[in-house]
Amino acid sequence: MKIIVTGGAGFIGSNFVHYVYRERPDWHITVLDALTYAGNKANLDGLDPSRVTLVEGNIMDADLVNNLVSENDAIVHYAAESHNDNSLDNPRPFVDTNIIGTYTILEAVRKFGKRLHHISTDEVYGDLELDDPHKFTETTAYNPSSPYSSTKAGSDLLVRAWIRSFGVKATISNCSNNYGPYQHVEKFIPRQITEVLEGRRPKLYGEGKNVRDWVHTEDHSSAVLTILEKGVEGETYLIGADGEKDNKSVVELILTTLGKEADAYDHVTDRPGHDMRYAIDSTKLRTQLGWEPKYTDFETGLKDTIEWYKQNPDWWKPQKAETEAKYKAQAQ
Ligand code: NAD
Ligand code: TYD
Repeated sequence: MKIIVTGGAGFIGSNFVHYVYRERPDWHITVLDALTYAGNKANLDGLDPSRVTLVEGNIMDADLVNNLVSENDAIVHYAAESHNDNSLDNPRPFVDTNIIGTYTILEAVRKFGKRLHHISTDEVYGDLELDDPHKFTETTAYNPSSPYSSTKAGSDLLVRAWIRSFGVKATISNCSNNYGPYQHVEKFIPRQITEVLEGRRPKLYGEGKNVRDWVHTEDHSSAVLTILEKGVEGETYLIGADGEKDNKSVVELILTTLGKEADAYDHVTDRPGHDMRYAIDSTKLRTQLGWEPKYTDFETGLKDTIEWYKQNPDWWKPQKAETEAKYKAQAQ
């Protein structure tokens, strides 16, 4: 099997590349990545270049995408602009990469009849009230809040239309918030860990009551490989591991794990339009495809992640000052 992984030098894409490299030793992986601020060649260090090829290029480059798709069996599409706060500051790259980039990939798989798995987020469904007894399912109506989630929703709808109108062989997954190694320090968990490691206080938006449904990125990878191999073409699968936690509890756990007082954080300006709660019902994936997560204990997974950031300052330090300067300019 020869696959393309778009965005394979980013956080979740590179974790998927490492996972497939270990689990499917006879597969060849081509990473297509524009190496934006979020992409990092070092995320692929240690992988045998005869089994993993990095192509530095843009998913909006139709000639490049067509060439690669024609030479491979399947494409797993992670590449995206992925951070809500950036999308509120400047939405344009989100429209370009998430919408036009996905369109470019869809046209290539349509032309060459290749298999596509499209990676998306639970944020396309909008948010839930804290006391809502329901979780998101595959039939929840789309109701995105931000430029990030609306452009991801748009990309999902393009995939659905290309399946129905052109018979494209595609599946879609919508996953909850990921944590684990190689996550950019702009995101919530790595930001707070590295703030503490640099001797500053974590920054909580608003009151910190917002709930995210955390899943370890390795469980996301195993779910995507399961869908790629066993998923029914045309179907959507939700990925989640019943990991709901409010932001305040996560910050407190990071602080106490690093030997600090649980209340040694600051409240900062809230994000405009901040979604209150996400929660995934992954019954379909579990019952129809037999997938189960391995990291069911968030505390253990978070401890491993904190340890990874402690051990790898060379990886995150170069991104840190610029990221914090950007947040400071927005009073966050
Ligand atoms: P990331 O920002 O860490 O990585 C994105 C990667 O895509 C980077 O390597 C970047 O260089 C590359 N890229 C961006 N624009 C590109 C372009 N035009 N052409 C080629 N490459 C480009 O993102 P992530 O957190 O790893 O998210 C990956 C995917 O998973 C996204 O589709 C995101 O919507 C989805 N997702 C993320 C989460 C989460 O918690 N982070 C949860 C569910 C779904
Ligand atoms: P984030 O990692 O940006 O993911 P998403 O917006 O996709 O859920 O943020 C996770 C949660 O943490 C979200 O409710 C916003 C909040 N947050 C903070 O409280 N402080 C921070 O410094 C950041 C970056 C996020």
